[in-house]
Amino acid sequence: MSFDVNTLRQDFPILDQQVNGKPLVYLDNAATTQKPRAVIEAVDDYYRRFNSNVHRAAHHLSDIATRTFEDTRAEVAAFINASREEVIWTKGTTEGINLVAQCVGRERLKPGDEVLITTLEHHANIVPWQQACLATGATLKVVPLREDGSVDEDAYYQLLNERTRIVALSHVSNSLGTVNPVAKWVQSAREAGAITLVDGAQAVGHFPVDVARIGCDFYAFSAHKMFGPTGIGALFGRRDLLEAMPPYQTGGEMIEVVTFERTTWNQLPYKFEPGTPNIAGVVGFGAAVRWLNQQDRTALASHEDALIAAATEHARAFKGLKIIGNAATKIGILSFLLDGAHPGDVGMLLDQQGVAVRTGHHCCMPLMDSLGIPGTARASFSIYNTLEEVDGLFRALEKVRTFL
Ligand code: ALA
Repeated sequence: MSFDVNTLRQDFPILDQQVNGKPLVYLDNAATTQKPRAVIEAVDDYYRRFNSNVHRAAHHLSDIATRTFEDTRAEVAAFINASREEVIWTKGTTEGINLVAQCVGRERLKPGDEVLITTLEHHANIVPWQQACLATGATLKVVPLREDGSVDEDAYYQLLNERTRIVALSHVSNSLGTVNPVAKWVQSAREAGAITLVDGAQAVGHFPVDVARIGCDFYAFSAHKMFGPTGIGALFGRRDLLEAMPPYQTGGEMIEVVTFERTTWNQLPYKFEPGTPNIAGVVGFGAAVRWLNQQDRTALASHEDALIAAATEHARAFKGLKIIGNAATKIGILSFLLDGAHPGDVGMLLDQQGVAVRTGHHCCMPLMDSLGIPGTARASFSIYNTLEEVDGLFRALEKVRTFL
């Protein structure tokens, strides 16, 4: 399979446009990736041809919708090497983590217990645990970082102990791009008797993920960070834990038998899926998985490595620019500060030149506090970005420097 970025770009209609009179350079992929034609058309096809509710009716359209919905669950499960009963549809990573924090955290934690996270975490992998600790009297422990933006592995092993009941780790940092060796850390956490959750939001769009190999109990991710629609994601959970957990929310579809006195729960995965789900989202998610499976993922990863290597080289040579996060293993994320410039102003001046980046704390206020900065400007790359766009980013930054 050969890889040509210009051919790949033709699959993404949104990229071919001008912003503020300049060709769009979309470098906000950690916030959300763009969607290939296959995903856009799959969602359109669902609404045009088989829009109907799932699992509920005995008619033709509902039958197609239900089969597509459940076949997609099997495809998403295969994508991460899980079985279909272990894949629960969610709104996205945030809901997946909240589900586990509510149904495992609040159920199992007690005073004296500890939940271990890292300084790198997104608010979505901090606040649910913080609230679970506040509700139960457990304590939130945080692994510090090293200078380069990697998690201090020695400190992780020191903080892991017999009181650690839950370990919740990001696979990849959304702010700095650091890739954590989660399989190794999960193994130690399990040996210490802890339940493990991995926040995979920033991983799935960049490299293949195998939850069996990682060995985690839970893995949460979102479709929209891997070329699928917003508002849909998946939570992988180990079957025996899911079986033992109470439901997250109650209502239709998650039940087996209801009387006015009591209710019994449906089997997995439906026990965790009350209400009409995001069917169009699932259809689009399936299209994204199929589209990604058709690509040469090794070539995509090499291309992204080339983009971040080029961006880092430019950044090191750029006077007054400080890279925030230099971990040895990182994906295509360049967080930076320009001397004397507020990141918000940098972002606005880049946008005027057609370059889209995110600025601010990136939903990681505690991380920014630990670095002693209010935020960064963040260029986050994806498979359809080009080396010319990397050059374009730095040409635009030269202009930002002259404006400021
Ligand atoms: N978590 C997303 C980001 O990093 C929204 O931008």
